[in-house]
Amino acid sequence: MPGTRSVNRRPIVGGNWKMQTTFASAEALALAVATHAASPPLASAVEIAVFPPFVYLAHVAMRLCHANSDVYVGAQDCWPEPPGAFTGEISVPQLKDVGCRYVLTGHSERRHVIGEDDALINRKTRAALDGGLRCILCVGETLAQREAGSTDDVNERQVRAGLAGVSSDAMDRVVIAYEPVWAIGTGRNATPADAQAAHARIRDVLADMFSPALAAAVRIQYGGSVKPDNAASLFAQPDIDGGLIGGASLKADDFIAICAAAVPRD
Ligand code: PGA
Repeated sequence: MPGTRSVNRRPIVGGNWKMQTTFASAEALALAVATHAASPPLASAVEIAVFPPFVYLAHVAMRLCHANSDVYVGAQDCWPEPPGAFTGEISVPQLKDVGCRYVLTGHSERRHVIGEDDALINRKTRAALDGGLRCILCVGETLAQREAGSTDDVNERQVRAGLAGVSSDAMDRVVIAYEPVWAIGTGRNATPADAQAAHARIRDVLADMFSPALAAAVRIQYGGSVKPDNAASLFAQPDIDGGLIGGASLKADDFIAICAAAVPRD
């Protein structure tokens, strides 16, 4: 049921490193996260994934594998076509080949800085799922849209368009990240009540698109200026199932503190 935390929803926290880190610092960060993630209370309670830049994916995935870590690796983007003549792009099979489990689609920087539209985001989402990856579909309103009172409409449009043509069967490999654009990298985050309200509405949309039971099982993360000192109050909301973390994911201690805040209390 929307608004009720389901036992099936294991919180998930992702670290989106964006176009940050070097070869050496990416390795060090991944291994520091892996070390902390292996001990209680995190081990098994929270799913953790890191999203390094493409060029470090294979190395980070290999190092985490050798460290026997449960920390998963994901890509920040993909191209929706099979391998072929697409200079500069990376395909879903290539991401799988280097050990990725997840891929982000529709991140606000890809929508609003790079200029991706809902149709391309939908193609990427379907290609990722068809290719066997798990997908974190990011949605969220701009400040102007929030001030115009259209937050829920924007989220609904982005969820419906992003998931168009996705089967119910594939939905257990989909996570939604609600990330208000005005909260990303700005130090301003949605209040827990505002974030909860947006998440509950997104869950209603999923119930309408698929079924109430399916909607109750889908994890919806919050993203946008999540820090160690605000994570617990956000994650305590019944429809918030962890977070997608940018800036604070670049410091292992902060990221781990945020992951710890996602450990279920009930
Ligand atoms: P932020 O980024 O935590 O730095 O606001 C979140 C994101 O872009 O996913």
